Amino acid sequence: MSDFTEEVRKRRTFAIISHPDAGKTTITEKVLLFGNALQSAGTVKGKKSGQHAKSDWMEMEKQRGISVTTSVMQFPYQDSLVNLLDTPGHADFSEDTYRTLTAVDSCLMVIDAAKGVEERTIKLMEVTRLRDTPILTFMNKLDRDVRDPVELMDEVEDVLNIACAPITWPIGMGKQFQGVYHLLRDEVILYQSGQGHRIQDSRVIKGLDNPELDEAIGTYAEELRGEIELVKGASHEFDLDAFLRGELTPVYFGTALGNFGVDHMLDGLVEWAPSPQTRELTQRPVEATEEKFSGFVFKIQANMDPKHRDRIAFLRIVSGRYQQGMKIHHVRIGKDVRISDALTFMAGDRERAEEAVAGDIIGLHNHGTIQLGDTFTEGEKDRFTGIPNFAPELFRRIQLRDPMKAKQLQKGLIQLSEEGAVQVFRPVRNNDLIVGAVGTLQFDVVVARLKNEYGVDAVYEPINVATARWITCEDPKKLEEFERRNQDNLALDGSDNLTYIAPTMVNLQLAQERYPDVAFHKTKER
Ligand code: G4P
Repeated sequence: MSDFTEEVRKRRTFAIISHPDAGKTTITEKVLLFGNALQSAGTVKGKKSGQHAKSDWMEMEKQRGISVTTSVMQFPYQDSLVNLLDTPGHADFSEDTYRTLTAVDSCLMVIDAAKGVEERTIKLMEVTRLRDTPILTFMNKLDRDVRDPVELMDEVEDVLNIACAPITWPIGMGKQFQGVYHLLRDEVILYQSGQGHRIQDSRVIKGLDNPELDEAIGTYAEELRGEIELVKGASHEFDLDAFLRGELTPVYFGTALGNFGVDHMLDGLVEWAPSPQTRELTQRPVEATEEKFSGFVFKIQANMDPKHRDRIAFLRIVSGRYQQGMKIHHVRIGKDVRISDALTFMAGDRERAEEAVAGDIIGLHNHGTIQLGDTFTEGEKDRFTGIPNFAPELFRRIQLRDPMKAKQLQKGLIQLSEEGAVQVFRPVRNNDLIVGAVGTLQFDVVVARLKNEYGVDAVYEPINVATARWITCEDPKKLEEFERRNQDNLALDGSDNLTYIAPTMVNLQLAQERYPDVAFHKTKER
């Protein structure tokens, strides 16, 4: 294997999916602790960026500076180099989260074991299904009174439709939490409470029948032996191929706060999770180990200083390597650009790496020429597929306070929609501008940015729209008829794609029934 191929194979690029409060931030801290990227846990974020009131907008701007650098965290673990992509915790930025999931090769699903499968986890899992991303599962908060582990796994299997293969099994819970039994290593790893801020020097007892076990955990030992026999009979065995197909998830139990079990999960991640995967251009698949550079932009984030309108475009390297100063081809605009100051993300020491390879993320300074979904190559004139837009669920009409600024408003909205901050729809019948978002906070962000960056003072008005669907139809005649008869419900989005705007879900359903040859899409590919 060449050095380059070996470098690529070492990469593990993943994201954490969870419902708010399940423990994503805490796990991130512990993961970095194991990656030697933090001296002591508890320093990833000040306070969760979760509960922003509207007036916190400026505060959010400030925090963005921090979140740019914590958006991607690279750290070594065992022989691997791990890239952890952060996803915004706030539900209102879920589109960003969804797109980040297209840039990873595996995901860690964190479940609060006291609560089980929660609503946002269901939604995020749906997104990972678009690419059959392999999923590892961590059942968190075993230091509390949690639900029965068998019941938890059943719930994951039923609700999320993925088979569970326990890799570790908990012994007791809450104050009585003793540790876990590792089914594959055949060893018991004992838990010590109060060691959350450092790497535990856990006692390990080899073999379930080892008399040391009875001495260490008393009556739990006999109970455990019986339970493991049952668990082995009733649950799935770990199957690497099924995991890689996204059909089976290895399950770990532990407590992120107590820093117990996170390392078992990391061991599984580096051993089983895929190295950088092949991605599709429209014409051909690109393998990660191809020598020539290619990549796509999955996220654009406004930078600290709004005056410079500088944004960071996050690019996932699909193949080859980035070297400082190299020239790459911007496929959509057909130009070569020299990249001299891309950001790379090494957690812990913030030094800029001069080189990055497939699987890594680099941050490009964007002065308005880069859009979400853009492809960069070393000359090839083809683009990557699969960066989705999601149908918004909230709509408002946007109005100007100063009618002279209509042009700037439209320009600003279209640029913000290209960046993925929001979606904009222009009805074919009138001059309204409808803003669609996945979460309400997006609306506030857009008004603030229109003002700061485009000098446009805008306000929202309610509008009677329930949902939107992107329209395609194989038969041009049928499409024309559909367009003719549905003028009142049609609009163009920021990239001029035809969209059906439904005032109610019933209206949408009727339209779908009436026009079976027309496809109504919930996601749009960029
Ligand atoms: P999130 O990013 O998924 O939203 O979750 P986060 O890690 O912020 O954790 C949410 C809350 O759950 C935090 O408590 C955190 O300390 C707690 N927590 C995380 N892991 C565990 C665990 O293994 N056991 C227990 N008992 N609690 C855990 P908080 O009180 O909301 O915040 P804080 O005041 O502790 O920061």
